[in-house]
This record gives sequence, structure tokens and C-alpha cells, in this order.
Amino acid sequence: MNLPSPNLPVFAPSLLAADHADLRSGLAEIESCRLKWVHLDIMDGHFVPNLSFGPQTVSDLRTGSSLFFDTHLMLEQPQRFIDSFIEAGSDLISIHIETATAIADVFASIKERSKQCGLVINPDTAPEMAEPYLDCVDLVLVMTVNPGFGGQDFREDVLPKLERLAQWRDSRSLQFRLQVDGGINVERARLCSRFGADTFVAGTAFFKAESRSAFAEEILSSV
Ligand code: DX5
Ligand code: ZN
Repeated sequence: MNLPSPNLPVFAPSLLAADHADLRSGLAEIESCRLKWVHLDIMDGHFVPNLSFGPQTVSDLRTGSSLFFDTHLMLEQPQRFIDSFIEAGSDLISIHIETATAIADVFASIKERSKQCGLVINPDTAPEMAEPYLDCVDLVLVMTVNPGFGGQDFREDVLPKLERLAQWRDSRSLQFRLQVDGGINVERARLCSRFGADTFVAGTAFFKAESRSAFAEEILSSV
């Protein structure tokens, strides 16, 4: 049997923690660290108690950037906005299982447009909820805080869920990425990697770091 090769670690800084009056500079900071991904947090004030930015901003950021746009939709009705984000330039679109949307249909519509899709589970959602979709996703995001705000405390109790998802991935020879998001710093990234995570989002820790490039190097060399 051919075993899947392990995914190379990816660090995706979240633009949520950048200066929102100057998001383009935030992107430039990420590019100057020679990173390939940026994490875009999209909030609707319903699914989460906060607002961020929408497709127009993503489209404007797309102009002049070749970063991989990892787009995390925290929307009550994500299916209404898939086309808009694809047209805006998203490369990967992740939706929450808790939205109780017709998830398989949403994934199919993303795949039809040759983009990648991800499934997100909140800290209190059982990994079994994600299980039926594992063979059709490119990424599973396990939230390590309740979504809505940057700068919250990391939830260590989610680690067993990562482990469970990583076990399913290995035993079924699947290759989806396992991402963590919320309260991630170098130490927590290392901890999550021991439980199977390979894709790490950090907003606050990256944008507040004394040296962003040193932070990026450190996080990637520690996982
Ligand atoms: C939370 C968002 C995260 C978050 C990152 O709703 O999905 O991407 O901003 O969190 P920090 O700032 O803790 O790294
Ligand atoms: Zn996020």
C-alpha cells in the first residue's frame, strides 16, 4: 500500500490582526517573510459576534498579491457567498460545520470552480461531525478558540480532536491538511504539531512579534 506523504508545514498569518486601514501593508509584511499563505477571516456579525471584511476587500488585496488566499468563512449562510469569494480570488474556502448548510453541495460548488475547500469545527464540536466529509476536503480546521475575535486564549482541550482527525487521515490514506487557528504562538504550534496539525494560523502573535520574519522562521522550524 502506498502511504500518503506527510504534508509540509504551512504557516498562514491571519490578516485580522493587521491594521485594517492598511491591509495591503499587512500582506506585504507576510510576503516579505517569504511565506506563501495568508489567512483571511470573514465574519458576518451573526454566526460570530463580530464583523471583519468582505469580497470587495479580498478582491482589492488580490490585485498585486500572489499569496495563497486561505479564506475562513464565519458566516451563517456561507453558500450565499461562495461565488463572490471565488470571483474575488480566494484559493481555498473553509466553512463551518455548525452552520448546518448543505455542506456537500457547497464543497461540490467550490470544487467545480477548481478551488480548494475546507471544513471547520469549533472547540465544542465533536470531530465525528466532520467525519463524513473527510474524503472530499482539502483541509480540516480545528478551532482552538471560539471564533469571532483575535487574541483569545488557546484551548488545550481540543488536542484530542486533532489526534482523532489525524488518525482517521492516516488510517484512510487521506491527505487533507489539519489546520489550527486561535491563540497560536510558537510553543502552541509545536504542541499542536505533535497531535497531527500541519497548518498553523496566527494573527496576534505574528503581527505583534518584534521581528515577524524571525517569528515565521521559528514557528516553521519548531513544527
Ligand atoms: C478567530 C479567527 C482567527 C484569529 C486568529 O475568529 O478565526 O483567525 O483571528 O487568532 P489569534 O489572533 O489568536 O492568532
Ligand atoms: Zn480564522
